[in-house]
Amino acid sequence: MLAPALASPAASADHTVAADPAVTRLVLTEFRNYQSLALNVAAQSVVLTGANGAGKTNVLEAISLLAPGRGLRRAKLADFARSQSAGDASALSGTARWAVAAELTKGIDTVRIGTGVEASQADEVGSEPSTERRVVRIDGQSARGPAALAEIAAVRWLTPQMDRLFVDGASHRRRFLDQITGGYDTNHAARISAYDRTLRQRSVLLRESHGNPDRTWLSALEETIAELGVAIAAARRDVVARLSAALADGGEVHPGAHLAVQGDVEGWLDGQPALAAEGKFRDALEAGRDQDAITGGAATGTHRSDLAVWQTAKDMPAHQCSTGEQKAILIAIVLADVRLLATTTGLAPVVLLDEVAAHLDEDRRDVLYDLVLGLGAQIWATGTDVKMFRGLEDRAQFLTVAAGTIT
Ligand SMILES: Nc1ncnc2c1ncn2[C@@H]1O[C@H](COP(=O)(O)OP(=O)(O)OP(=O)(O)O)[C@@H](O)[C@H]1O
Ligand SMILES: [Mg+2]
Repeated sequence: MLAPALASPAASADHTVAADPAVTRLVLTEFRNYQSLALNVAAQSVVLTGANGAGKTNVLEAISLLAPGRGLRRAKLADFARSQSAGDASALSGTARWAVAAELTKGIDTVRIGTGVEASQADEVGSEPSTERRVVRIDGQSARGPAALAEIAAVRWLTPQMDRLFVDGASHRRRFLDQITGGYDTNHAARISAYDRTLRQRSVLLRESHGNPDRTWLSALEETIAELGVAIAAARRDVVARLSAALADGGEVHPGAHLAVQGDVEGWLDGQPALAAEGKFRDALEAGRDQDAITGGAATGTHRSDLAVWQTAKDMPAHQCSTGEQKAILIAIVLADVRLLATTTGLAPVVLLDEVAAHLDEDRRDVLYDLVLGLGAQIWATGTDVKMFRGLEDRAQFLTVAAGTIT
């Protein structure tokens, strides 16, 4: 029926092995409400059930940290550290340590991943206050940073917070799109960081030079911003085009949806080469200097773009669709991404489904499970009621979460 599970060259052993990355061991130390947890599971999907506040989403969040980025809640590093009481001193002083370690099984290989915090170097006079840095180890070796995780496995998620994606501000959708784009272009996140950093340098220069900035430096910064911005815009456009095609493919199961990136820079790439778009962006930055000096930031750029989404059948902007329709569109987009990742990289991502069952009727739930499992992906699903997961019976391991323990 749906996209076939990808055959893996790794499946050379005489028994069948799951070729797609699956989390088979998870060790949490001082992470959220877990003082210490060691969980071993098979490469099959996992269902976590338990009462509100038991620690289900925290487990998914830990797994989301096995991919680049700040995890599914976009939390600050200090928030991951277990605090025993509100206002716990160790968390507030920034000295709290936490760690997430995991084994990812890929066919017959196992990769060990560890991530947590480490204090930064000793403070220099006048430097920023001591901050903690997230460190990543892959098979015991220090990695360059979270970005190195992109080569190991992708993790995708659907959480209740995402239900507001179409009604919240553009920044949420932009981040959502950039997260997806990073799955296909491993330089995307680094480009965005460099772009944001250069934009801040330009703002400081404009603000502090009181109308008389060093023009050579300013032009150099704008040149960099334009180059990075056009690369960011091009990557977004490319992914949106591919996602739209993937969405059109899944038409019989999902409500049709189509996507577009809306932004000046993305628009300039319409039928124009990148160099021309860079020129336009540079000109716009130059023309906006006086205004930007007053308002701060920059009036033009990829930091202002938005992901526009429509429900195809009614040609209705997603934010005007009903709650249920919005949910269906969101699931369709996430599924299209999972499918596209599986086909383009050859490996399905680990898929985290936080409380999705609660908002879907049984048929829709089963379609969702079938689609994701059909791609070979390992699902980690949570819910308060085990009955919601009947469609995963015999296809998943059922675990119970209660107050920082899992059985
Ligand atoms: N840094 C932290 N230190 C200690 N406890 C924390 C920390 N952050 C969150 N918690 C607590 O962890 C508990 C579990 O949170 P989690 O979001 O995983 O619950 P859940 O099982 O998903 O519940 P729900 O069904 O309501 O979504 C909560 O009581 C939360 O307040
Ligand atoms: Mg939860």
